Amino acid sequence: MANETLYEMIGGAPVLRRVVEAFYPRVKQNPLIGPLFPENIDPVMDRQYKFLTQFFGGPSLYSDEYGHPMMRARHLPFPITRERADAWLSCMAGALTEVGIEEPLRTFVLERLSGPAYHFVNTPS
Ligand code: HEM
Repeated sequence: MANETLYEMIGGAPVLRRVVEAFYPRVKQNPLIGPLFPENIDPVMDRQYKFLTQFFGGPSLYSDEYGHPMMRARHLPFPITRERADAWLSCMAGALTEVGIEEPLRTFVLERLSGPAYHFVNTPS
């Protein structure tokens, strides 16, 4: 247990896949962040699945394919305000609940993601 990665604690590939599939419909419907994303969300979902796999301690799927993540830099083309970071995290909170990830793991995952989310803020509100 103590040596388990977050990836394993969540339930590995099948559960992470479901989280990503529950997350993007929420993102698309969110008026603050939905319009930033392309019509065809499938490639974004695939890259997010690969990124979160390695971010949570699973296999390095994202870097193997795309190199160094440089995630803040990859987000610079998009005007990310604090409110948009809040909206992103709230979509993720909903997705985790939908998939059945229970406390205290749910809050732990959200705390792990809130660091990068606020770090990606690049535009004043
Ligand atoms: C803070 C609020 C955030 C907003 C508004 C946001 C928005 C976006 C947008 C618009 C894209 C580009 C979609 C496209 O390809 O056209 C994107 C890509 C991506 N985002 Fe975010 N994002 C946020 C936070 C995060 C966080 C916290 C993570 C993970 C820790 C993350 C991971 C990714 C990944 C992996 C991609 C795909 C990168 C690639 O193109 O290879 N994002 N995001």
